[in-house]
Amino acid sequence: MSEQFSRLTNATVSNPAEYGPLREQGPLLRTVIDGAELPVWFVVGFDDCKEILHDSRFIRDQSKLPGAEGPSLTDEILKQVGMPREYFKYFGLLTLSDGEEHTRLRNVVARAFTARRVNALRAGLERTASDLHAALSAKGEGDLISELGYPLATASICELMGIEEADRPQLQDWIMELATYDPERFVPAVRGIVEYFKDLIARRRSEPTDDLVSVLVKPGGMDQDLLVEDVIISISLLLTNTGIAPPAYFLGQAVLSLLSHPDELARLRTRPELLAKHAVPELFRYATSVPTGGPLYAAEDFEFRGCPVKRGDPVVPSLVGVNHDPKQFSDPQRLDVARDLGPGIGHLAFGSGSHYCTGAGLAELETEIVIDTFLIQNQGMELAVEPDQLQYFDLPGKGTLLSSLPVRF
Ligand code: HEM
Repeated sequence: MSEQFSRLTNATVSNPAEYGPLREQGPLLRTVIDGAELPVWFVVGFDDCKEILHDSRFIRDQSKLPGAEGPSLTDEILKQVGMPREYFKYFGLLTLSDGEEHTRLRNVVARAFTARRVNALRAGLERTASDLHAALSAKGEGDLISELGYPLATASICELMGIEEADRPQLQDWIMELATYDPERFVPAVRGIVEYFKDLIARRRSEPTDDLVSVLVKPGGMDQDLLVEDVIISISLLLTNTGIAPPAYFLGQAVLSLLSHPDELARLRTRPELLAKHAVPELFRYATSVPTGGPLYAAEDFEFRGCPVKRGDPVVPSLVGVNHDPKQFSDPQRLDVARDLGPGIGHLAFGSGSHYCTGAGLAELETEIVIDTFLIQNQGMELAVEPDQLQYFDLPGKGTLLSSLPVRF
């Protein structure tokens, strides 16, 4: 008998208003999301998702499950964008590993993200945001995703990694091409990034500086078996891609959320002390812009809260769904800049557990600075189109993203 599952469009995955009926179908919903073409268990409840992210019976590396049926979800998406096989190795190094292997890689990445290094970026990012505001307001109009989110996020991660200013516009263009998921653009961009990092690694090997790539290539700088060029390229691709695209789109979403809630924006302007501790976390919850977390795989057959999960089954957390779960948040579809999300981080926009986003502190800092510069210190910016004219594009198998945010001053 063929398996029964529902189909979800990427637009549904990203739309909190459509989750009511999905929540009624149990803790795990068997579904296929457009663009991935593999049945997955979709998790929409906050508690269920948190439990799964901390349960060692769900793992990231499907290749550790010999005999488990079906291709991996990541490979499936790479195939859809026409990625040649020889490039698959550059994807998922950290995100698709578990246990000790994951911890060793994560410790390497964590070197770039200490609170001290992130906080040291504040003054520079404030200047960058101010300069971008001055340029956009002088022009009178612009797109806040390509002309604010992308350059600000690029400046942040490149500063942390030590990538020279002259190389940043090209790197930013490649990352923008990746976000299109269009095979004609995705594959050349990956080739460009890989060749760029091969060249940078060679340069840093012969003339080290104090940047992250130099630390990565330095003999004795980390475990010898991690010194392989492919590993350093994968880490660099991961950091530039995750460091640029998610904040670029989120910053647009966050500004849009406040512009579409003038009462909440007015409240924040009169009480700017709410910004860092309340409004920023609430914006991450409300405007969840990474709609789904990385896929996990059941390592054995078992029942999860009454659902029969089979070894090898992929499980996909809906971060939009969990961040709008009425059992966890009162009136979840309301933006409330004074909301108290409770102890800890309070939302799951950055995931939870061992794969929790390493760039969360940086993303929060960028958001605080952008809201402060563009909506509190300077006022008068407004949407240049009606909200229903805004365009969104599909992230195959993962949801949708806002394409651009046209504003005028
Ligand atoms: C709006 C901003 C951001 C959002 C919403 C976001 C969200 C996420 C989410 C949901 C995950 C996956 C968690 C999982 O699979 O369980 C993740 C992982 C990750 N993020 Fe972010 N992220 C953001 C910004 C950043 C930035 C600025 C960086 C900096 C490089 C970054 C680096 C990473 C890395 C390296 C991982 C993989 C961690 C691991 O697998 O151990 N992210 N992020």
